[in-house]
Amino acid sequence: MTKQETFQLEFENHVKEGLSTFPKFLSSKYIYDDRGDELFQQIMALPEYYLTEAEFNIVDTYKSNLREVFNEHGAFDLIELGAGDGKKTKVLLKELVHNNVQFTYIPIDISQHAIDDLTMSLTSILPELEVQGEQGTYFKVLERLATYNKRPKVIIVLGSNIGNLEHPQAINFLKKIKEVMSHNDLLFMGFDQKKNPLTIQNAYADSKGVTQEFNRNLLHRINKEMNADFPVDSFEHWESYDPETGTAKSFLIATEPCEVEIKKLGFKTTFKKWETIHCEISQKYDDETVEWLANQSGLEIEKIYEDQQKLFKDYLFKVLK
Ligand code: AVI
Repeated sequence: MTKQETFQLEFENHVKEGLSTFPKFLSSKYIYDDRGDELFQQIMALPEYYLTEAEFNIVDTYKSNLREVFNEHGAFDLIELGAGDGKKTKVLLKELVHNNVQFTYIPIDISQHAIDDLTMSLTSILPELEVQGEQGTYFKVLERLATYNKRPKVIIVLGSNIGNLEHPQAINFLKKIKEVMSHNDLLFMGFDQKKNPLTIQNAYADSKGVTQEFNRNLLHRINKEMNADFPVDSFEHWESYDPETGTAKSFLIATEPCEVEIKKLGFKTTFKKWETIHCEISQKYDDETVEWLANQSGLEIEKIYEDQQKLFKDYLFKVLK
């Protein structure tokens, strides 16, 4: 089975499971086809979605410090999980290249397309940069790199993607990264912070409705890829941030009763008026929670970087001694 076929099968099983239970759920990881990627780019450009700007501010403010810390043990591999469009990473790469630091940049992404685009744009703006894009799932590629590459590794994961995982899954994710890290290796990762609940609420319930379209893309994908008939416009986005737990949850809510047939799965499901589909969590953190997650995973916090407006933090981790 090809990777694409395996992914499709997982998606189909997930849809069947999530829509035949109560309360219904679908995972946000299936939002990201080409349209989903494009909508996420639009979200990152929204004034309400403060995360991108805040993390950009961190990288830009602390780039020379990061250069020194990353380069402490000489030539290294800079491994980025999730190639993205690289806006924040480019600031860091420029800082390293312009100061003649010896390193190879290894972006890892599931999409070859994302890697090719990034490599092309990087070679035009930074021709001296050594780029070695790797296509595949994060852990398969990391394991491969750990066995044949003995240079110190700096692994970077920007954008608070860890927030889309429940704590046990987040620990699993960190543990898997830790397993491929040696003593001089570093992990630099973004964690969005607890803050004024309204700021968070507005970031995930934007006035232009882009986040609604982003979530609805799940239903569009099921319609397209599984021959289903979701009345997509009858599902509205709802965001609910709980300041006690720091969890922002997003839902699609049926504004009318409906029956949905998913022909490819030979499966029908019904929605009552106001019935929900839980689509995503975006966890917000504080230092204690990040420290707890790190320790559970065999890591320790080495340093904390915060943006000027105190909205977002990047943590530098080492393997726990
Ligand atoms: C990718 N991830 C970190 C985003 C977040 O903030 O949870 C996805 C997102 N969902 C709605 N807006 C952005």
